Amino acid sequence: MRIIVAGGTGVIGLSMLPKLVREGHEVFAMTKDSKANKFLKEVGVTPIQADAFDSDAVLVAFQKVQPEVLIHQLTSLGSVNLEDNAKIRIIGTRNLVDASKAVGVKKIIAQSLAFVYEPGSTPATEDVPLDFEAPNPRKINVNGVASLESAVTELPEYVILRYGLLYGPGTWYDKEEMIGQQVLKGEVKATDSITSFLHIEDAAQSAVEALKWPSGPINIVDDEPASGKEWLPVFASVIGAPEPEKEDGSERGERGASNAKAKKEYGWTPIYPTWRTGFKLSSKK
Ligand SMILES: NC(=O)c1ccc[n+]([C@@H]2O[C@H](COP(=O)([O-])OP(=O)(O)OC[C@H]3O[C@@H](n4cnc5c(N)ncnc54)[C@H](OP(=O)(O)O)[C@@H]3O)[C@@H](O)[C@H]2O)c1
Repeated sequence: MRIIVAGGTGVIGLSMLPKLVREGHEVFAMTKDSKANKFLKEVGVTPIQADAFDSDAVLVAFQKVQPEVLIHQLTSLGSVNLEDNAKIRIIGTRNLVDASKAVGVKKIIAQSLAFVYEPGSTPATEDVPLDFEAPNPRKINVNGVASLESAVTELPEYVILRYGLLYGPGTWYDKEEMIGQQVLKGEVKATDSITSFLHIEDAAQSAVEALKWPSGPINIVDDEPASGKEWLPVFASVIGAPEPEKEDGSERGERGASNAKAKKEYGWTPIYPTWRTGFKLSSKK
């Protein structure tokens, strides 16, 4: 298939592009600047320059490529700014969807989140509504996700990958990155908030498999939603951090998500079924 990837140079994209090429697809990566061009060419991907906020440039890129499928992995989390990220979900997605409609893209596979569901006491399934009543700053995330998920339904086929909290090399949970560093300094408390994790390899692999999946939202999370009191001591020990302080209570909506639909109906199997072993396997001590 002829595939354009938006956000192909982020942590998920870099792992996903070689997998797409190995499956025999003709792959184009839309990037804002040219710093990743060498890597892209080495893995057999054609770079196409366009800023996602520039609707004309996005349209020109799509007209050049004439893709059948769009994989949307755009985020703006490098700066850890929720508003920037919501902006790229809202405006960036709008521009991608409009360009897709203009050139007849048949299917979109888009990155979304499995941790913006309304509060509840069990891991959320895909039919649980998003948390529209949430206060800020959570609401910024909910609105960005809702806008993205609504826009992609304008294409004939759409798979919405609701990813769990990403960990693995290059993510915030890498020992060298933001959360890894905070845990090393003893700044993160182990609470009752429930998290569903997802290794970046599984995020990337699921996007490749989603080329064959039906339209709709699907939770892509590991098998073991867990409270901070369970996972944080394991993570801290793996990266050589001090035993984290415990604190009762949890943040709104932190209930985890269920992957039952992906496993039972789509035959998806996570490469890293649980953070318990995944933290260790992906750590580069
Ligand atoms: N579910 C989750 O928990 C989740 C999901 C996503 C990310 N994250 C976290 O966020 C961290 C950063 O993510 P990331 O490495 O993927 O980086 P990022 O800075 O969020 O960028 C992601 C991709 O979007 C592209 N992009 C951003 N703005 C663009 C624009 N205006 N026009 C065109 N392309 C644009 C980037 O290309 P350029 O390089 O050209 O900017 C890159 O390919 C990760 O390490 C991860 O821990 C978590």
